[in-house]
Amino acid sequence: LFVHSTALDELEYLHETAVFVDKSGTIVAVEKNCNEEKVRETVLARLGWEAADVEVVKARGGQFFFPGFIDTHIHAPQYPNVGIFGSSTLLDWLNTYTFPLEASFSDKAKARQVYTRVIRKTLSHGTTCAAYYATIDVPSTNLLADLCLVSGQRALIGRVCMDSDLSPDYYRDASPEASIAATKATIEHIRTIDPALSLIRPVITPRFAPSCTLPLLRQLGDLAKETALPIQTHISENKSEVALVRELFPPSLTGAADDSYAAVYDAVGLLTERTVLAHAVHLTEHEADLVAARKAKISHCPCSNSALTSGAAPVRRLLLDRGIACGLGTDVSGGYSASVLEAARQAALVSRHVAFGPGGEERDRLSVDEVLFLATRGGAEVVGLGDKVGGFEVGMEWDAQLVGLGAIGEDGEEQEWEGEDGGPGGNVDVFGWESWPERVAKWVYNGDDRNTVKVWVKGRLVHERK
Ligand code: GUN
Ligand code: FE
Repeated sequence: LFVHSTALDELEYLHETAVFVDKSGTIVAVEKNCNEEKVRETVLARLGWEAADVEVVKARGGQFFFPGFIDTHIHAPQYPNVGIFGSSTLLDWLNTYTFPLEASFSDKAKARQVYTRVIRKTLSHGTTCAAYYATIDVPSTNLLADLCLVSGQRALIGRVCMDSDLSPDYYRDASPEASIAATKATIEHIRTIDPALSLIRPVITPRFAPSCTLPLLRQLGDLAKETALPIQTHISENKSEVALVRELFPPSLTGAADDSYAAVYDAVGLLTERTVLAHAVHLTEHEADLVAARKAKISHCPCSNSALTSGAAPVRRLLLDRGIACGLGTDVSGGYSASVLEAARQAALVSRHVAFGPGGEERDRLSVDEVLFLATRGGAEVVGLGDKVGGFEVGMEWDAQLVGLGAIGEDGEEQEWEGEDGGPGGNVDVFGWESWPERVAKWVYNGDDRNTVKVWVKGRLVHERK
């Protein structure tokens, strides 16, 4: 069984189906209503493949293939802090927990330890592609790119830019020029290790407006234009942050069309169709129009927005009323979990709070199918890979996870799946009478990495649950 999104509100269940992946990791055929005999007798011949050369992976009883998750916003160096945020909110959280930890990544041994772990952890949760923020330190940021390449995780790697005195002396860029030079050094490094940018891509990463001076924002906007590289940053996460941006960047200074947060990024050339905006909790209607007009994308980070008491982003409206492309971000460690499945579950729950909150409506609620769309196809579009990953289609690359569910026997005990075809499952109990959409809903609300049996990126097996 293959399950994937075909539209925001529609999961497709492909039973009796075979997907053919070539040596480069590209899907070359999707055969529906197919059995092993038909595969052997017709499809292999058509592809010109010898049966003996083909490696066969089956989803056994209780298992299904699902596209790999895309984490559109995660801070790799903050992983040691997951769950550690106390009662802080964004601006004091940065100073108390985040800047001291990120500054310590000038220690390359520590960077290697943490980055190795964060890649293993996210792969084990089915994250086949992540848009990472690293730190201001170039050698360790380049190391993160090396480690992703070696581990086989698809990644966008952002060397963090921050030169304003909002940040402490011990953790900021010395000047806009130094910040640009450091950014270029990481871009060059990635072009050296993955010249075609087939797995790893650099991403221009102004931390957020308040941590950058106007000259730096402008120069990053110019660099994005010159290089056509993607951009990632934060926007309208927290009300104090929004007020701070209004104070720091009046239109008289920036030449922006109005005094909104989105207009600041727009004025410096950072609001583009290649821009990933994290959070977008407190956008005004007018800002949402501007984001939509520029075709910028949004990374919805529900775990983080709840943990740091930032707010609840009305993401279904942004999707449906404005047509803005949205994906999910774990936002480790504003978010307490590195799991995109947890982000999907929290997206569903937070959307219910939006629905019953002030001004909320029925249509603010996200369904299981919708949060899984955000976790896969939506995320792919957000990071500029909408034609490459996120679904099982000919021409796309095989970034996928094999998900297993547990079987409960007549005695009420956990058991092997019936018959020799039974596969290992995870902690989600299936009694056998549930429909497949019900099983998938159980996975979304109860699943974790114990259900992630195998993970592939570009056809390569990158994780197997032991
Ligand atoms: N805004 C600026 N930096 C950060 C960060 O590291 N995490 C979150 N959640 N918001 C930010
Ligand atoms: Fe963040």
